[in-house]
Amino acid sequence: MTQNEAKRMAARRALEFVEDGMSLGLGSGTTSAIFIEELGERVKQGLRVRGIATSIFSQKLAESLNIPITNFEDCPVLDLAIDGADEIGPGLALIKGGGGALLREKIVESAARRFIVVADSTKLVETLGRFPLPVEVVQMALPIVTRRLEALGLNPHLRHHPDGSLYITDENNVILDCASGSISDPAKTAAEIRAIVGVVEHGLFLNMASLALIGGEGGVREVRP
Ligand code: 5RP
Repeated sequence: MTQNEAKRMAARRALEFVEDGMSLGLGSGTTSAIFIEELGERVKQGLRVRGIATSIFSQKLAESLNIPITNFEDCPVLDLAIDGADEIGPGLALIKGGGGALLREKIVESAARRFIVVADSTKLVETLGRFPLPVEVVQMALPIVTRRLEALGLNPHLRHHPDGSLYITDENNVILDCASGSISDPAKTAAEIRAIVGVVEHGLFLNMASLALIGGEGGVREVRP
């Protein structure tokens, strides 16, 4: 089974949690894109849902599939958010933001009554930190935030596109990817990063997901905190 097939299995299973009339948080990344495509098929068949997307890319994808898009003015509470993750640790502690959408992802997922993660089994880890932790930073604060993250031993690196240009988020900020290695106490690390003025958000999603649907060789496994 390819990684893509495993992602598709998880994304398809997530559709079983979607009910007619629901308002949905639409995630970002390849697994979420599969979910949005599958959701589009269901909408074509008559399912009535509306969504708030976690990135411009996901919003455009949803719109192209005629999935109605709403906003927090009209819909301040979402029934369900579905999104991928870069790492899934014990207690469903997550690292997210590999695709650069962590800020909107955290906003959307915190506004949802339920947040379900969709991923393939390569994302499961015993300790978070193999995947560099993304931290979104206001551009003018970059030099001071970089020093403070260095002082915490988090080894920050400014994100660039493969062509060498600076990576700018949908909210016009930059991202420092922190290759710190094992994060033994995610709550402590999250609090230390949050305390730095100039940090907009970090990619540790703690106590947010209630279920992870993990695609792999044996089918889709349900993992709970
Ligand atoms: C984007 C994310 C994605 O959910 C994460 O990168 C997983 O992506 P994929 O489904 O492509 O493996 O956090 O900011």
